[in-house]
Amino acid sequence: MPRSCPTGAIASWWSGSSVSSVWEKTFRDGEKGHGFLPNTVKIAEERREAAWFFFWTAWVASTKRLDAEVTYTNTWPADRTVGNVPTTDTYIWTLGGVLALLIVLGAFVFCVHYFGIWYGPAKGVPLAEKLIDMPLTPSQFKAAKFFLVVVVLFLLQTSFGGLLAHYTIHPAHFYVQLVADLIPYSWAKSWHLQLAIFWIATTWVASAIYLAPILGGVEPKGQGFLVQLLFGAILIVALGSLAGEVAGIYGWMGDWWFWLGRQGWEFLELGRIWQILLFAGLIAWLLIVYRPISNHLKLGHKDEFNGLMTYYVLSAVLVVFFFGFGLLYEKGTPLTVADYWRWFVVHIWVESIFEFFGVAVISLLLVVMGLASARGALIVAYFTAAIVFLSGIIGTAHHYFWYGGPSYWLALGSVFSSMEPVPLFGLVVRGLMEYRSIRKEGKEFPYRWPLLFLIASSFWNFLGAGVFGFLINLPLVNYYEHGTYLTMNHGHAALFGTYGMLSIALLLFSWRGLVEKEYWNYGILKVSFWGFNIGLALLTLGTLFPVGVMQAWTSFQDGLWVARSAEFFTRPHVVVLGTIRIVPDLTIILVGVAPMFYFLFKTYRHLKPTEIKEGESVWERLGVQL
Ligand code: HEM
Ligand SMILES: [Fe+2]
Repeated sequence: MPRSCPTGAIASWWSGSSVSSVWEKTFRDGEKGHGFLPNTVKIAEERREAAWFFFWTAWVASTKRLDAEVTYTNTWPADRTVGNVPTTDTYIWTLGGVLALLIVLGAFVFCVHYFGIWYGPAKGVPLAEKLIDMPLTPSQFKAAKFFLVVVVLFLLQTSFGGLLAHYTIHPAHFYVQLVADLIPYSWAKSWHLQLAIFWIATTWVASAIYLAPILGGVEPKGQGFLVQLLFGAILIVALGSLAGEVAGIYGWMGDWWFWLGRQGWEFLELGRIWQILLFAGLIAWLLIVYRPISNHLKLGHKDEFNGLMTYYVLSAVLVVFFFGFGLLYEKGTPLTVADYWRWFVVHIWVESIFEFFGVAVISLLLVVMGLASARGALIVAYFTAAIVFLSGIIGTAHHYFWYGGPSYWLALGSVFSSMEPVPLFGLVVRGLMEYRSIRKEGKEFPYRWPLLFLIASSFWNFLGAGVFGFLINLPLVNYYEHGTYLTMNHGHAALFGTYGMLSIALLLFSWRGLVEKEYWNYGILKVSFWGFNIGLALLTLGTLFPVGVMQAWTSFQDGLWVARSAEFFTRPHVVVLGTIRIVPDLTIILVGVAPMFYFLFKTYRHLKPTEIKEGESVWERLGVQL
């Protein structure tokens, strides 16, 4: 195809191309080498539309814009044979990104020392010790069930991850062949991602329900009932949306695929009705949790603890609010516009709002555990959140480099997202301080394991998000690596490492207060902690990272299409790394998740009694006034 091709000429290229017949055959008859099962797309018209779509992506990637010397995708993907090499913008803004990181890092170090942000002793009220002996309120008791759902979803999610890894090396095959015939790659992939979001979100929902009466000081009337309703609603949406995704993939939904089936947008796969219901459920959660907390806020205390609580509430509101942007595209919205909004949710969630929520809960827990003063925690939290927002919001543009939008996204994305690792570096410092606190408290510190998971979360935030994220973030690197295992390496280390570990910390913190103290088991938790962390380290550093480097190298030398071809995955080194991946995968599943699963189900029988009645003051029971 010529480099400059007016839109009107597309049709004639299409009619002369073999794209249509290739995809007609692949989607109809299947193609085991690439993992396509027979009848992947059942209807001939839909097979033609899919082929059209692939044709169109090739067209935007190789055709120059009418007003510029670059293609619609900023001349991505790499392929020298058709003249796709990085543009001048790509080089210039790579330098801009490096400079932005250095300047902001310098300013950060200056501020930390000048304002003494990470200094000073920290000792608050060791409220947490009291929580261990406090009987439960009805709503807290009901929160425990949510955590059981969490470990079930978690086990399912990681198992589907293992299946995906297996398919990569043996497309459309499994030890029990029925599994591979039944579960296509797209099903395993959708569930792997959706379940991750579900279990992580459920820990946030449940830990807030547990904390709310403590922070608010009362158990409002009807709170237990509302929590019960929420539990049912969340279960319906989770199961309904997961089932809908499978039905959508199998083509059983007909025209309802968008509403009840599978929209197919990565991380936001669920059907639109489920998406709306989930949004409504999350708003209901905010209201339910706000009921007790508002009791405390109404007292009008002018102290830092109040600030911290407000901060926590605001961060939760934003988590929910930003999910709403996923409703701004519709069935027929053009890819570029829809992807714009999808990243508006996914990126701003993980690189801004979740970070905001993360520092909020970490600060709150540290204060509650008596390891930091409210004032110290609040200053660090404000400072971190300010830089996260400054860099992360416009930083979304690093997903818009090659997506068919205007080329100014290259400049914005590179400069702003390059600043993002800065606050994450700070978190490691904080993690070390927390570790010192644990050592001071000794081995019997009752919140030892929740706190160690918090430290793990900060560590992975530094390595997975900060280092591995920056590694692929500069336009010149991203140009070659986009769509390779280097992204996967970053995605796993950052999402599981940061928010997975944070969620487990929240789960264990709440569980510590929910279960009779004599049933707490340090041994199992220790095994699980190391299972997760060693497993994730082996997975990323030992397999995903090296495959990613080989893939990016191949993309640089021979073009991205070679790096992503089925042939690449049959190369001996890649097969070996793909095969030994079973070790980290099974470590995470069997040594990390399984013990946690066992621990929760075993101790669920020993929840503390529900002695605090509705309408009763929780603070009186606790003997503290927050
Ligand atoms: C804890 C915070 C973070 C989480 C949970 C996270 C998670 C993810 C995930 C899951 C993806 C893959 C999306 C996909 O499948 O396409 C991704 C992509 C990406 N992330 Fe992050 N991330 C975080 C922070 C960062 C930071 C701090 C940076 C850079 C400074 C960064 C840079 C990138 C880039 C450039 C991509 C796109 C890679 C590509 O083009 O394929 N991320 N992130
Ligand atoms: Fe991002």
